[in-house]
This record gives sequence, structure tokens and C-alpha cells, in this order.
Amino acid sequence: MRNFIKKITHPFLKLGLKLFYLKPRKYCYENICIKVHPDVFPPHLTFSTKILLDFIKPLNLKGKTFLELGCGSGIISLLASKKGAIVTATDINRTALNYLDKNAAKNNLLVTIIFSDLFESIPNSTFDYIIINPPYYPKKPKNIKENAWFCGEHFEYFEKLFSQLQDVECKNVFMILSEDCNIEKIKSISNRNNFYLSNIQTIKNNFEANYIFKIVMK
Ligand SMILES: C[S@@+](CC[C@H](N)C(=O)[O-])C[C@H]1O[C@@H](n2cnc3c(N)ncnc32)[C@H](O)[C@@H]1O
Repeated sequence: MRNFIKKITHPFLKLGLKLFYLKPRKYCYENICIKVHPDVFPPHLTFSTKILLDFIKPLNLKGKTFLELGCGSGIISLLASKKGAIVTATDINRTALNYLDKNAAKNNLLVTIIFSDLFESIPNSTFDYIIINPPYYPKKPKNIKENAWFCGEHFEYFEKLFSQLQDVECKNVFMILSEDCNIEKIKSISNRNNFYLSNIQTIKNNFEANYIFKIVMK
């Protein structure tokens, strides 16, 4: 996914990408069309969002409570809502949340939108499903946009995530990771917090392998 962007080294391609993300861009999935602000994680040219959309598409979500933790564009939340789920979408990127609000209205879909640093401001701690597409590069984010990519020099995002997850009741917590990240390190943090990552799907393309993990309490 992000690897794809990293592997684009040709200056023209680089410039093309930069120009592409200068203004809000349309993205559609299953007749849900949204506008994505340049400061928000782009589902267009990355793989992970589409993989998660394809993953939740066949699930029976009718009447289920569904949390997208770190929703970015919110396209996954909107699909879940379209499938009848009771959806909460959270992020620390206010632009993402404002755009999601407008995109939900345009698509006549209902999503509860909450500004929250991980689980900190989410009033409910019980969900049927939680979906996470985390930032995973070990670097300190310099701005809000970079929170989509960087998890902190010492994997602070994951330290906090697994620590907070202990107080959350959910049997179906799914997280996507790419071969491009330090999966062993993330597994060790989960392990230390009494969870293990169970690989339930591997999706490979010409650029990279992505893994959907179920986060299971030991
Ligand atoms: C890789 S993007 C995924 C976006 C979306 N879920 C998707 O699959 O397209 C990660 C998202 O997590 C958000 N994020 C990063 N740190 C967060 C935190 N501490 N609390 C909530 N959201 C966070 C980012 O702002 C970004 O929108």
C-alpha cells in the first residue's frame, strides 16, 4: 500500500502523485462516492483501504455495532452503514471528520462521528466489530496528516492501542498490516498486553503482501 508510494521513484510519477493530491479527490466503492481532502489518508492509490472494504463487504453487519478506529476518509464506515451496521467512526484528524460528515449526508448514510485519540473519547466500549488500519512507520508524526502514516518513534500508537484494548469488549477486532512494517515488533507489543495476532487473510499483489489479523485476547 504505502510501499507502492514509496516505490514510485520516477520524478514524473512523483510529481504526478503530488499534483493528484493537491485538491480533494473523488473515491467510489459500491455506489458510495466520497470526496477525500488532501490532508486525509488517500484510499485511491493505497491498497489497505480497498482490502478492508472487500473484507467487510460479505460480512453480515445488519444491526451490528461497528467501530472504525482512525477512519480517515470514512469509506469503510460508510460501507458498514450501508450494510445496516450501527457505525461509529473516530479519528484525530478534524478535516477527515468534517469531510466524513458531509460525505455521509451526501450518501444518505448514518455514522456517529467522534473526535477521539484512540479509545479516549469513545463513550461506549462494547462493539460487535472493530476495524483498524493503523499508521505503522516508526517515526514521530510532524503534523496531523502524518498521523496516517507514522506510529511514533517507539511505536507509541501500538503501545497505547493494546493497552486501551484491554478495557474494550469486542470479539471481532481486525487490523490490517503490510509486510512493509515491523510486524514482529507489533506482535511483541500485543503479546506484552495479553493479546495475540491471528492471521486470517493474506492478500498479495505485485507490490506487497498485506495481512488481516484478528486481535485475540489470550
Ligand atoms: C492508515 S490511515 C487509515 C484510514 C482509514 N481507516 C482507511 O482504512 O482508509 C490511519 C488513520 O488513523 C488516524 N489516527 C492516527 N493516530 C490516531 C489516534 N491516536 N487516534 C485516532 N486516530 C488516529 C489517522 O489520522 C488516519 O486517519
